[in-house]
Amino acid sequence: MAMAARSAGAAARPTLPVMRTVADLRRAVAAWRAAGQTVGLVPTMGALHAGHLALVRRAQADCDRTIVTLFVNPTQFGAGEDFAAYPRDEAEDGTKLAAVGADLLFAPEVAEMYPDGFATTVTVAGLTDGLCGPARPGHFAGVATVVTKLLLQSLPDAAYFGEKDYQQLLVIRRLARDLDIPVRIEGVPTVRDADGLALSSRNRYLSAGERAAAVALPMILRHVAERLADPTRVVADETARARDALLQAGFTRIDYVEVCDAETLEPLAHVTRPARVLAAAWLGSTRLIDNMPVSSA
Ligand code: PAF
Repeated sequence: MAMAARSAGAAARPTLPVMRTVADLRRAVAAWRAAGQTVGLVPTMGALHAGHLALVRRAQADCDRTIVTLFVNPTQFGAGEDFAAYPRDEAEDGTKLAAVGADLLFAPEVAEMYPDGFATTVTVAGLTDGLCGPARPGHFAGVATVVTKLLLQSLPDAAYFGEKDYQQLLVIRRLARDLDIPVRIEGVPTVRDADGLALSSRNRYLSAGERAAAVALPMILRHVAERLADPTRVVADETARARDALLQAGFTRIDYVEVCDAETLEPLAHVTRPARVLAAAWLGSTRLIDNMPVSSA
């Protein structure tokens, strides 16, 4: 009696099909296509936070079905980077995705993505020459290769990426265009904590003191963006001040603070067209990136 009452009252837990092989993924997508449904893809490396869930919600708003991929892609981590330590909790990620109503989780093993003899790399020239490119050799080739594979494996109508990784977003847009992959690449605005820090799976590496200091990054970038709305101001002066301010705030190393054309990422001396201020800086052993739009008046 008690058991019956419990099961009658228990809310049905949302379930999330998990697929490990490209063949299974393709079968699921083919069934949706046969029913005339559109498909959105949200590639992730897991450790999901509200920023990822915003991508899922956007895909759900645009498409009939939403696939989320979870693959900690070894080829986009350099030697000495955090591949081994990267947070992995598929069960927790699955619970979050089921709660928001994602339709399918594609979580392949490394051997499924990179079988023996895998020998192809996608590189995007130009856009990867600056910003995070020099600091993370091979990173964008790893991202471009895995995202190309994910797009071709699932052939979605649209794929969703956060603007927090702005250079990555432009690289992916370019590869889809250059390789004639028939998909819309959609950028979704950065989700921030209440104090302005951009959500990132890597924020969990920060100590309490580092987390307190981290808020300086968005504050300083916002200040640069506001000042450079005046096209007479000199970008180099503002970025030099921003670097000093980051060091004052406790950042221990700065990879770059730059202002670039919003489409080509060409560095600008003055902001006379749509631009982006972008930065990468370290708090101890944690590298944070962020960026914001700069609009000339
Ligand atoms: O932004 C990420 O999480 C990754 O770079 C991506 C796009 C899922 C490729 O591994």
